[in-house]
Amino acid sequence: MSYDTSTAVKGRVIVPCLLLASLTFPFSNALAGDATIHPDRDRAALARIQKVPLGLPAVPYPEDNPPSELKIRVGRKLFYDRRLSHDNTISCAMCHVPEQGFTVNETTTAVGAQGKTLRRNAPTLLNVAFAGSLFHDGRETTLETQVISPLLAPDEMAIPSIGFLVEKIRRLDDYEKLFQLAFDRGVSIEGVGAAIASYERTLVAANSPFDRWHYGNEPDALTPEQKEGFYLFVDKAKCLNCHVINEDFALFTDNGFHDTGVGWKRSMEKAAPGRTVRVELAPGVFTSISREAIESAGIPEQDDRGRYEVTLDPSDRWRFKTPTLRNIALTAPYMHDGSLSTLRDVVIFYDRGGFPHENLDPVIQPLHLTDDEIDALVAFLRSLTGDNIRELVEDARSARIGNPENPPAEISD
Ligand code: HEC
Ligand code: HEC
Repeated sequence: MSYDTSTAVKGRVIVPCLLLASLTFPFSNALAGDATIHPDRDRAALARIQKVPLGLPAVPYPEDNPPSELKIRVGRKLFYDRRLSHDNTISCAMCHVPEQGFTVNETTTAVGAQGKTLRRNAPTLLNVAFAGSLFHDGRETTLETQVISPLLAPDEMAIPSIGFLVEKIRRLDDYEKLFQLAFDRGVSIEGVGAAIASYERTLVAANSPFDRWHYGNEPDALTPEQKEGFYLFVDKAKCLNCHVINEDFALFTDNGFHDTGVGWKRSMEKAAPGRTVRVELAPGVFTSISREAIESAGIPEQDDRGRYEVTLDPSDRWRFKTPTLRNIALTAPYMHDGSLSTLRDVVIFYDRGGFPHENLDPVIQPLHLTDDEIDALVAFLRSLTGDNIRELVEDARSARIGNPENPPAEISD
């Protein structure tokens, strides 16, 4: 029997945590039996790292963690395993949902352990292998070490300590043998980091219409409108200044940190008492609620000073990392706080010159785009979606969690 974990993951939005906890099963014996193993998928995943799709550079990885099929297998399994959270309700994939561009499309900022709302939007993990630094403030440097943050954050997976985590995974009967195979030693925190990082590096997505046009000499891969959008992107709209396109590949980021005004605006709104907050109830449906009412029902919104929190340099206040724009059509909502819902909202935001204030990045100025030009830019952004997304989602959902002889019950109403 097979079961579809996507149902369970989506269920998070509507099913109370306690119910989910009851569905996360005590597994009996058996290691990751043969049914959990898909050598073809592991091979294909490793091949993605070794030969990237058109438009990307070679996948970098640390010398002491070269990718292997076995590491990818362990990493994939860990990534989708809710038992990696303290109360067995939250896996990495619940904030980085494969079907939602490896982010969450349904909430502006992520929701973690016991329904706690985080202050930031979950970034996509598509092409995260190429990120110059990690998190919106760039505070982490390698995928191997990044893994620890969400596992231990009390509002994310809420594991009390690293030792606790290692012990917990050791006790799950399906991991010890896999770790032995992949790392020649049993479960360790280094192994957890190395495995998840190896899996994340397989999430490369390119060979988009833009790539086939720009790098693949396919003149018709883009529509005339998308081509117009490209020329606006690199010239009049000045997007290229920060979302870089190189001669042989494009990551659409300068790996830098800039103040676009989004963080500034949020802080100003937070500081102004009595103001109402615009809340999106459903895609495109907004209402205004007083800040006091919201805060009386939950935790007051936390400050976010962006890059400053890492460097303590006042000029870095409200600077955030330039994100990639690859696969951007899949990863709404946008910006570090998810405050812009659609690509059109984003382009209109830039057209108006961001949110002007003293430290606004000087490149960001009113663009005076026509309606057609705004449409063209949006159309161009939509041409950046890789052609292998379905493959990545299928690969993700091939991970079987726990004992395949004893899968969890199907969720029913
Ligand atoms: C509760 C939601 C949540 C969970 C669970 C979660 N993440 Fe995230 N993830 C986020 C948010 C939000 C950010 C951005 C945080 C920030 O910038 O401070 C993030 C950032 C990241 C980044 C950096 C991406 C970039 O481009 O900078 C990586 C990599 C990542 N997460 C991987 C993981 C892994 C691996 C796990 C499981 C061990 C995990 N996440 C679990 C919400 C989550
Ligand atoms: C001065 C540098 C700079 C320029 C110029 C710039 N951007 Fe950005 N862009 C950023 C930064 C920094 C962010 C992240 C802001 C945040 O998280 O609050 C961003 C975010 C975005 C996002 C949201 C990405 C996501 O995953 O949430 C989109 C889409 C985008 N920019 C498109 C554009 C377009 C289109 C242009 C040209 C009209 C442009 N940018 C010009 C720096 C820049």
